[in-house]
Amino acid sequence: MSTIDPRLSYQQPTRTHPLVVAMAIFMSGLFAIVLVLVLVTRGDGGSTPATPAEHVHATAAATPAEANPTPAATVVEPSHHTPAATAVADTHTPYPAELPPLVSGVKQVRLTLKDVDLQIAPGVTFHAWTFAGGAPGPVIHVRQGQKVHVELTNGGAIPHSIDFHAARIAPNLAFKDVKPGETFSFDFVANDPGVFMYHCGTPPVLAHIASGMYGAIVVDPKGGLQPKADRSYVLVGSEWYLNGDGKSQPASLDMEKARHMQPDFVTWNGFAAQYKTHPLPAEVGENVRFYVVAAGPSFDTAFHVVGTLLDRAWTDGDPHHVLTGAQTVEVPAGGGAIFDTHFDENGLYPFVSHSFASVDMGQVGLVNVGNVKGTMSH
Ligand code: CU
Ligand code: CU
Repeated sequence: MSTIDPRLSYQQPTRTHPLVVAMAIFMSGLFAIVLVLVLVTRGDGGSTPATPAEHVHATAAATPAEANPTPAATVVEPSHHTPAATAVADTHTPYPAELPPLVSGVKQVRLTLKDVDLQIAPGVTFHAWTFAGGAPGPVIHVRQGQKVHVELTNGGAIPHSIDFHAARIAPNLAFKDVKPGETFSFDFVANDPGVFMYHCGTPPVLAHIASGMYGAIVVDPKGGLQPKADRSYVLVGSEWYLNGDGKSQPASLDMEKARHMQPDFVTWNGFAAQYKTHPLPAEVGENVRFYVVAAGPSFDTAFHVVGTLLDRAWTDGDPHHVLTGAQTVEVPAGGGAIFDTHFDENGLYPFVSHSFASVDMGQVGLVNVGNVKGTMSH
């Protein structure tokens, strides 16, 4: 099985006729053969510029087809390869995946809800409802037993609310609607360790989550989760359902697509394939921890890291429920899990939902182990 290209074949949704694709593949193959012949004839094939595949530390078993992005892959990714799309992708500032530090005392969570046009993929804008100007909302990090003070100010156009899965509290009192222009606050004590979703709970919840109102809260167990992690990343999986292409003007939510679970994009932290362009760093032998939340609104996330295994998997982040040596672990929509892994050698390691429709729609990123050069797709 190829461990390189197909997993990374995130593409902008396009509709290309199969015949056109077949012709393009044929022509590209022909071009590649001619190119190879020319290079071999010139005798400088060995000194051509490094291809991305050369940075990937392809194993000896890898065939040329596995180790090299094929021209065909380029053919079916037209929008991804245009200079404009590349420029947008390169200037996009990725959502910070690093787990923010703990603070002492009461954790203050002050959120001003805003309606904003967000970039959700290279060159694609969506009219979002957000907790604090972005989607996901900010990552909240607390310690078991810490008090959380939540203050919502509704700067949007319609009522919103906030529902914390980490809280044991009466929803009718705490998770109630806040009207535009109003501020509402409540406290809860984060007594249950884990990684949890928070989201707007105003009906229809499907529309509010699908419009960007979701985020993650990490509750460390007393004394911290053992063993210690060398690096900690937070990944929130979610889908976008667009009523247009979002290119000439921002798209808005397509409720029918959302009802039928037919997204245009599936992402880590709100932007398609952003950690493929901006990989998350790590070093060989480190204990790398992922806090994963599947925000949905409707898709589960089958968490998998290509090229390694999950040393520990804590379902819902509960320190008592640990699975070891797992390959893929399901995080249900509305759920969370914590994963530890390590890498044995330098290279680029994709992290995905192994439900591959999601990869195709953008739920793929890379861990760059050892600061190697290149990327896996270009
Ligand atoms: Cu809302
Ligand atoms: Cu919920």
